[in-house]
Amino acid sequence: MKIFIDTANLREIKEACSWGIVDGLTTNPTLIRKAVQASTGPGFDIARHIEEICRIVPGPVSLEVIGLDTETMVSEARKLHHRFNPLKDNVVIKIPINTNDGTGDHDNFRGLVAIRRLADLGIPVNATLIMTAEQALLAAKAGARYVSPFMGRIDDFRKPEQDAGSAQETLPTGSEVVRQIATIFANYGLSTEIIAASIRHVGHVRAAALAGAGIATIPFAVLNEMSRHAKTEDGIRRFCADVIPEYSGLLSLL
Ligand code: E4P
Repeated sequence: MKIFIDTANLREIKEACSWGIVDGLTTNPTLIRKAVQASTGPGFDIARHIEEICRIVPGPVSLEVIGLDTETMVSEARKLHHRFNPLKDNVVIKIPINTNDGTGDHDNFRGLVAIRRLADLGIPVNATLIMTAEQALLAAKAGARYVSPFMGRIDDFRKPEQDAGSAQETLPTGSEVVRQIATIFANYGLSTEIIAASIRHVGHVRAAALAGAGIATIPFAVLNEMSRHAKTEDGIRRFCADVIPEYSGLLSLL
């Protein structure tokens, strides 16, 4: 499984990339806002910041549009791709599967039409805010290179309604949705890749890998946690305490 890092924070990106296990990166407007808030020093040049991300990351970098209608999303996607893709040919555009926020008109296909238009232009798309296998199937049909099921938010949606007798109780978990998407894509030979997103803890990473996600996009803190175990730390303390002078002497002579 490929590992992407889910952040726009340069300190985190540089450190995680130095570990040699990062294959790509995802951002969204919230992560960009957090990176700006975390930045120190005068001014913040967002274009330079994104350029640096594209240069450092050894794989695809997802940048999200902010428009809600098809024309604006396609226009923003083309501008982002034109501006940043020439640096390393690694920019992917994130398009929400559906930009209907439930309050205004109810056009549910603006995201999908944007995905189709961008796919036809040869611009790779990461379909974001995927909560169901059906949405993932539509995104794949529209030509998305990637779909991002939001494991954490799918689990959040189930939790408040888990009282006995609730219809929501039967909804799939985040990892079940990832498994359903992997099965559907395999059944029909769809080449769209799955990026397990909205990962909140190491259990989500394990579940995504077992469910067949080709990629997981993981926050820095969860990546860090993945390498740890109390018994590993205990083992290191014991090995260090058991080193005999003959063995350390041998190693210094070699
Ligand atoms: C990445 O592609 C997603 O935007 C991100 O994983 C969302 O995570 P969150 O649900 O923790 O905000």
